[in-house]
Amino acid sequence: MELTEDQLKVAETELQKQLPQSLKIYGFLVLRNRVKSDSYIVLVDRWPQFSVIICKPQYKQKTDLFKDTIVFANDEAILTETIRNSSVIDWSRYLCLGISLPHMEIVKAVAAERNVPSNQLSLCHMMILEDASKLPTIDCSGICLSSLDESHLDLVNQMWKFGNNEGAARMIRNMVTNFPSCCVLDPEGNPVSWILTYVCCALGMLYTLPEHRGKGYAKALISSMAKKFCGQGYPVFCFIEEDNKTSYQLFKDMGFSEDPSYRETWYGFNDF
Ligand SMILES: CC(C)(COP(=O)(O)OP(=O)(O)OC[C@H]1O[C@@H](n2cnc3c(N)ncnc32)[C@H](O)[C@@H]1OP(=O)(O)O)[C@@H](O)C(=O)NCCC(=O)NCCS
Repeated sequence: MELTEDQLKVAETELQKQLPQSLKIYGFLVLRNRVKSDSYIVLVDRWPQFSVIICKPQYKQKTDLFKDTIVFANDEAILTETIRNSSVIDWSRYLCLGISLPHMEIVKAVAAERNVPSNQLSLCHMMILEDASKLPTIDCSGICLSSLDESHLDLVNQMWKFGNNEGAARMIRNMVTNFPSCCVLDPEGNPVSWILTYVCCALGMLYTLPEHRGKGYAKALISSMAKKFCGQGYPVFCFIEEDNKTSYQLFKDMGFSEDPSYRETWYGFNDF
């Protein structure tokens, strides 16, 4: 069943009790319940005691397929039953889906039963700042911080690992227009380092132009966004790809920690 606006607020409170496993979907609802952005529908297996919750983007055009479907479950048998027997997942078209690693095995098994091809897009640590007082003191003097605007979309799209395409451009436009972002401007007013917020409230797309690395810009951006999020009652977290050691160390140094046994993964099903 699809949740109404009032039920979405109740679901947020329920998911808060199931942190940190529910963090991605909880973060999605924190933003969804406060900020207007691209439309998603939120489905549960039953109400009010739901075991599976699925946030599905509404595809309005082909390039929207880049947006991911977010799934959380606290019961594996019900997850299996939900995705095997319901029409919640449209297996006939491209689908990008993010979920915890063990639950992805369940989704992959159901896809395999239907001969739907799958490939892993990303495998990440989920890093959380539990306590803002753990943030180190960062000297931001001489650093000009601002937020991104529409004139910066091409630059962000060009530099993002998964970017340089129309789908990413639309996703980045939604993020820059609706969610918090922060950047370091050079004396000419051009961004040289930036950080955005994903639809699930995770910090991401952190990037510093190579010639400006090692100047403390990324630390200044993380610190500024983390303080802002804490002030607004948003969770402060991010996903770091497993092989990105520099970034992992950077967030660790900034006071973020993880449950080392937890991994979040994204898969693409069907061909793009
Ligand atoms: C990761 C990244 C954003 C760091 O940006 P930055 O502005 O250089 O970061 P800072 O100057 O604040 O430095 C933070 C830490 O990064 C590491 N670092 C910075 N420059 C580095 C370099 N050239 N080589 C190795 N490590 C480096 C250091 O550990 C540094 O901490 P330290 O100053 O205590 O030694 C940047 O390297 C980058 O854009 N990488 C590619 C994109 C990416 O991986 N993004 C993260 C996705 S989650």
